[in-house]
Amino acid sequence: MRASAGGRLIGYEEAGSGTPLLLLHGFPFTRRMWAPQLAGLTGRARCIAPDLRGFGETPADPPFTMDQYAEDAIALLDALGIIEPVVVCGFSMGGYIALALWRRHPDRVRALILANTRANADGPEAVAGRHAIIGVARRDGPAAVAKQLAPKWLSPHTQRRSPETLGGLEAMAAAQSVEGIVGASEAMLHRPDSMATLATITIPTLIVVGEDDAITPPDVAEAMHRAIPHSRLEQLRLAGHLSSVERPAAFNGVVAEFLARVGSAEQRV
Ligand code: MLT
Repeated sequence: MRASAGGRLIGYEEAGSGTPLLLLHGFPFTRRMWAPQLAGLTGRARCIAPDLRGFGETPADPPFTMDQYAEDAIALLDALGIIEPVVVCGFSMGGYIALALWRRHPDRVRALILANTRANADGPEAVAGRHAIIGVARRDGPAAVAKQLAPKWLSPHTQRRSPETLGGLEAMAAAQSVEGIVGASEAMLHRPDSMATLATITIPTLIVVGEDDAITPPDVAEAMHRAIPHSRLEQLRLAGHLSSVERPAAFNGVVAEFLARVGSAEQRV
C-alpha cells in the first residue's frame, strides 16, 4: 500500500500491534526483504516497513541522501499518526539511515537495532566500487547489478542449503529502477562518517551480525558495539549479510527479546 507523506507517495507495509517498529531495508532491496519479520514479529510490535525512495512502490525522485531517506521515514510516521518514539531497525543501508534518524530526530527514536551495518563512511575502495555499480546500472541495467552483488549476500551455508533464497533476492534487486539504484549508490558514497555519532547514542541498542557476513563482517559490528554505550551484540550462526532472511527465527528471536526489554519502559540509559 501507499501513503501520501510529506507531499509524496511512499510505499509501505504495516502489520501487528504494540511498540512501533520501523524496518528500514537495505540496498538494492525493498520492504519485501522484511517479509519474515512482518510475519514473525507482529505479536510483538506494530511493524512498519517502508520502501525507501526509489525502491519498490516509492517513486525515484531526487534528492537521494541519507538525511532525505530519514526525513521520508519521519514523514511516513507522521502520516500514520505515530508521534511517539519508535524502535528503528535498519539493515545495512537502512542502518546508515537509522543513524541519520538518531542524529536528526533523537526524540522520535526509542531504541535502535543496527543489523548487518557499519558506521564508518566509504573509503577509496568502496567509493570506486560504488562508481563501478553506477556504471553497471546505467550500461547493463538492474539485473546485471544484482548478479554482480549477489555472491556476497549469503553465507556459504545458506547458498548450499537454500539456493532459492538467492534467486528471490536477485529477482527483487533486478526489479528495481536504474534511478533508484544510482540514487542510493550516490547517497551511500556521499554519506557522512557516523563513528563519532555512536558515542552519542543514549538509548538501548541491539547490534546484529551474521558470523559469515562478507559485507559488514563481525569485526565491524564489534567496533560499533565497543563505541555505543550499553549496546548489546548478537552474532547469528550460519548467517551472512542477509541475516534476517537467512535465519529469520533466530533474528526474530533476538529482536523479540530486545523489544520485550525496551517495549514498555522509558529506558533512556
Ligand atoms: C546493503 O545491503 O544495504 C548494502 O550492502 C550497503 C552498502 O552497499 O554499503
